Amino acid sequence: MQGRVHTPTWPGVIEAYRAFLPVTPQTPIVTLLEGNTPLVESVRLGPRLGLRLFFKLESANPTGSFKDRGMTVAVSKALEARCRAVVCASTGNTAASAAAYAARAGLLCLIILPAEGVAQGKLVQVFAHGARLVAVEGGFDAALAVTREVSERLGLALVNSLNPHRLEGQKTAAFEICDALGSAPDLLALPVGNAGNITAYWRGFVEYHAGGRITSRPRMLGVQAAGAAPLVDGRPVERPQTVASAIRIGNPASWQGAVTAVRESNGRFTKVSDEAILAAQKQLAAEEGLLVEPASAAGLAGLQQMAAAQPFNGETAVCILTGHGLKDPESLLRAGALPAPVTPTFDAVRRVIEPMVG
Ligand code: F0G
Repeated sequence: MQGRVHTPTWPGVIEAYRAFLPVTPQTPIVTLLEGNTPLVESVRLGPRLGLRLFFKLESANPTGSFKDRGMTVAVSKALEARCRAVVCASTGNTAASAAAYAARAGLLCLIILPAEGVAQGKLVQVFAHGARLVAVEGGFDAALAVTREVSERLGLALVNSLNPHRLEGQKTAAFEICDALGSAPDLLALPVGNAGNITAYWRGFVEYHAGGRITSRPRMLGVQAAGAAPLVDGRPVERPQTVASAIRIGNPASWQGAVTAVRESNGRFTKVSDEAILAAQKQLAAEEGLLVEPASAAGLAGLQQMAAAQPFNGETAVCILTGHGLKDPESLLRAGALPAPVTPTFDAVRRVIEPMVG
């Protein structure tokens, strides 16, 4: 009998949703076959909240975060425009994605990072893909400001989410959710930092609704870390602080888009403590089998906070798990350390195991 030959059929988000995206037959497509990420139903945490809850594993994208959806479009367009290099500021994931897609395209990639607070795994990705790196003092907001100036004055393609092509690509995640469920969920929860992603999701739902593919749109729940919650507090935060380094942002670039998404969807912004974020991260790993970086657990922490105030009633919710846990090993190391080794004999191992398995 012949073995089964696996033929990959998913073509990446541009080919899958070409009609919705700003590409032409002339656009050279730079893709790592991003998208088509799993929508995994919660077995424990959702039912406990009174929700039919799904997790969208954006961590399953080629560079481990949702950024790849926008980067395939932004880098394809940069290549089409014959840019000589791409540039971005980042808390890490945008940098990792830009570095990978630029490598794929054969373009030079320049990354401007805040000196403190970029998780190790993301730095490793930037180095490995051969991007050029500048570290600047201060946080992400200052890095983004100088990056905008560099892009304008030196004529380099900016691939932060200020680049409209990024959000166009990212909206495809909303399409995938609707395609998988056959309808829009009642509620969509996601972490909010620079606010591009919530803006992009809402655009996706609005377009699918206008095109008759869904008959309702979800309420958008935008979750920020308590120490970096400008959209909840209604004003920029000078020195944002949170363990969730990906969303340590005090003055989001897509502020208006996020406010519109929440207002038009009858949703809300909320903020959660670092403790709640880390507890949700741990629960996802230990009770659902899903390892995410701290920022990615914020959506779940937000849903848990809402449920504590007012129980849900069987609604369908989707929680976006934006980035992989392996990107930020420091945040997870407190979970355990390698125990002292024992002799590799049955008796020695049994002595260790017995108290564990009871
Ligand atoms: N989750 C993760 C894992 C992120 O990396 C980011 C943003 C967000 C959520 C928030 O998305 O900014 O669209 O509201 N990371 C950016 C970066 C800022 O530079 O990688 P947002």
